[in-house]
Amino acid sequence: MSVKAFVFDAYGTLFDVHSVQIRLEEMFPNKSEAISQEWRSRQVHYFFIRQLIDGYKPFDQITKWALQDALIVNQVEYSEEDIQEMLEVYKQLQPFPEVKQVLEELKDKQLVIFSNGTMDMLEPLLNYNELDQTLGLLSADQIHIYKPSPHAYQFAIDQLGLQKDEVLFMSSNPWDITGASSFGLHTAWIRRGQAKWPTIDEEPDQIYSDLKGILDWK
Ligand code: LAC
Repeated sequence: MSVKAFVFDAYGTLFDVHSVQIRLEEMFPNKSEAISQEWRSRQVHYFFIRQLIDGYKPFDQITKWALQDALIVNQVEYSEEDIQEMLEVYKQLQPFPEVKQVLEELKDKQLVIFSNGTMDMLEPLLNYNELDQTLGLLSADQIHIYKPSPHAYQFAIDQLGLQKDEVLFMSSNPWDITGASSFGLHTAWIRRGQAKWPTIDEEPDQIYSDLKGILDWK
């Protein structure tokens, strides 16, 4: 089987969503971890709800709503300027330590992000991390259908002009790997310290502790 494209989830897979804690801790001392965890949890929960009710709202709006609620739940005083600043910080997330090296070793391959994030979120994030020349970009916002809907992965392979078995899809998010596996892509779950694969009647093809494992496929 020859992999013609390596397709990556962005948030939690290539980029550490919890790197926002550095700025959060300055703004809300001793609450950064709780806010960051609540923010991510609500962000995922909210887009799932919007998807299930066929009521798409863009990921940047979802991300803002989730942040506001995470701050309220953590009982901190905040301003609209604080929200706007944190949404800008979200465009400067840190890549995980091994990411740039692995992408460099795969530079002769087709490397693409397929994310639920909007282009307005993803383009500055790649530019900030100097990865805009390394990675192509596909966004669920182009079709207003979120991963893990099969229609989202169908959009991605249509855009790439590839067959399902020509794509290796990587994500740290079990919901995303479940969707991609169920759709028929080759999948690698990037565990990133997570305990175990959920009991969900779908399995990833490969499980790696970090992105270095995918070099087996190059
Ligand atoms: C992504 C997030 C939602 O699609 O994991 O990048």
